[in-house]
Amino acid sequence: MERTFIMVKPDGVQRGLIGEIVSRFERKGFKLAAGKLMIIERDQAERHYAEHAEKPFFGELVDFITSGPVFAMVWEGDDVISLSRLMIGKTKVADALPGTIRGDYAAHTNFNLVHGSDAPESAEREIANMFNDSELLGYTRSI
Ligand code: CMP
Repeated sequence: MERTFIMVKPDGVQRGLIGEIVSRFERKGFKLAAGKLMIIERDQAERHYAEHAEKPFFGELVDFITSGPVFAMVWEGDDVISLSRLMIGKTKVADALPGTIRGDYAAHTNFNLVHGSDAPESAEREIANMFNDSELLGYTRSI
C-alpha cells in the first residue's frame, strides 16, 4: 500500500474547490489517512519546495503557498502516487488535459490548484514536513 501527500493550494481554497478535489479522490477509491486546513510556515514551504530552490520562481512560489490556508492531505492506495498525478494533470496548465483537476479548473501554471507528490521518497518527506505521526489515522475501509 502506497501513500502520497496531496495539497489543495491557496487558490483552490479561495475558489471553494476543496470539496470537489477531495471528492475526486474519494470517488476513485483512495483512502484518506489525514487532512487539515493549515497555514504553511515559511520554513516548511522552503523545505516542501527544496527541489525548486534554484529556480527563478522559487521566491514567488514560497510567497504564494504561504499566502493563505491550504488543505493538506495524505491519501493511501495502490499506485496512489502515479494515479494521483494522472488525476491532477500536468504542471503546465496548457498541457493539462480535460478530465484532470488542472485541465478542468486551472488557467495559469502559478495557480494550478493542487500539489501531489511525484515519488515515494518525496511523498514521505512531504508528509513528515506537514503532519505528525499521530495525525495519520489507520482504519479499515470496508468498501
Ligand atoms: P507544484 O506541483 O506544486 O510544484 C512546483 C510548482 O511551481 C508548480 O506546481 C507550479 O505551481 C509552480 N511553478 C511556477 N512556475 C513554474 C514553472 N515555470 N515551471 C514549473 N512549475 C512552476
